[in-house]
Amino acid sequence: MKVLVIGGGGREHAMCWKIQQSPKVERVYCAPGNAGISKNAKCIDIQSTDIEALVRFAKAEEINLTVVGPEQPLARGVTDRFIEEKLKIFGPSEAAAQIETSKAFSKNLMRKHDIPTAFYSTFYDFDEAMNWVRDVKPPLVVKADGLASGKGAVICKTENDALETLDSMMRGKIFGDAADCVVIEEFLEGEEVSFIAFTDGETVLPLETSQDHKTLLDGDHGPNTGGMGAYSPAPVVGSELFGKIMDRIMVPVVRALREEGIRYKGFLYAGLMIKDSEPFVLEFNARLGDPEAQPLLMRMKSDIVPILNAVIDEELSGYKIEWMNQASVCVVMTSKGYPGDYKKGVVIRGLEEVENMDNVVLFHAGTAFKDREIVSNGGRVLGVTAIDNTIKDTIDLAYEAIEKLRDEKFYYRTDIGKKALTHI
Ligand code: AMP
Ligand code: GLY
Repeated sequence: MKVLVIGGGGREHAMCWKIQQSPKVERVYCAPGNAGISKNAKCIDIQSTDIEALVRFAKAEEINLTVVGPEQPLARGVTDRFIEEKLKIFGPSEAAAQIETSKAFSKNLMRKHDIPTAFYSTFYDFDEAMNWVRDVKPPLVVKADGLASGKGAVICKTENDALETLDSMMRGKIFGDAADCVVIEEFLEGEEVSFIAFTDGETVLPLETSQDHKTLLDGDHGPNTGGMGAYSPAPVVGSELFGKIMDRIMVPVVRALREEGIRYKGFLYAGLMIKDSEPFVLEFNARLGDPEAQPLLMRMKSDIVPILNAVIDEELSGYKIEWMNQASVCVVMTSKGYPGDYKKGVVIRGLEEVENMDNVVLFHAGTAFKDREIVSNGGRVLGVTAIDNTIKDTIDLAYEAIEKLRDEKFYYRTDIGKKALTHI
């Protein structure tokens, strides 16, 4: 069969790498892809949000299965359009993707269906939001309702911080229309984990556990980013907590959506705060996490293609996923300056040496070809991903690899995976 992956980041590279290994697959395409993806798939020059061009391509090439990586095409209804054209596609519908594209939608759904999450209120009116902030105790988190590339949640330590943030979002329009509505919620202290499952709208089939590192600097300091590194498994999620997450969050939210008339099919990602061994939802995403995808797919033993098809066909019940017992760690190399301004077009040296290492895979995020060399082309550049028997050995291997790429124009955190060591 022929498979098309939509997107061009580290997550999509991991998807192409995994899908290409399926004996059922004869060809993988990726739109738009990147320099690294071109080793595992044929890259097509179509942007991931150009829905009509994607439909035309899938029809012309007789694509048997399309898999959506990022949230933007989901938000624009790529799934609904493909289904209209009788094309097979993996990813939630536009209505189902609201769980990510509208924080007010997802918080209201959780409140209505008793799914544990932080206390909150939603506002369309600036003065009402200001008055509410004056009545509650900081710290607070102010969130733009819509998509804001992972930058739409601001932790406000003081009342003044919260008022300034509200002003910049609602009046200053720093996120455009995405902050016409804001959610303000209680700040939760604890440890953050990612919990991702396949669901066909009825059965929820969880992936292994994983943990991201959202902030730029070591020790979880600095501004939020798309994710600076991830590992799997996450030892903080023992079997009891795993059960609570499934029983109180994952299964109920899929049921809740069904009760609201929405059948959710695709990856469902819960960003959770674990507080005193209890899970609370910070957000839902309608897709696989990036960089969580890299260590998760590296550990996945089962062929992913039959599972993707079972989700689409609503036949997920009875499926099991086999996982490697080993640990996997992904350290993200970024352009210096990210998540602020950074330079593109910097030549990346040492790639071949790392590619030749055993048990290490280089997943490309923002890379491109220039004069036959591979250059940086985004904020997150590479996800250096290792697999080994223990988390400690895996961390060492990932860092041995990334050190070979060291360059003053790039940056990476030096403590990815350290948190896991505190739990074993
Ligand atoms: P979100 O876009 O809602 O996932 O928020 C982005 C990041 O902000 C999360 O990954 C957390 O690190 C942090 N965050 C969001 N909501 C809260 C909260 N209620 N309490 C503490 N931290 C939060
Ligand atoms: N790693 C966080 C995300 O994919 O949203």
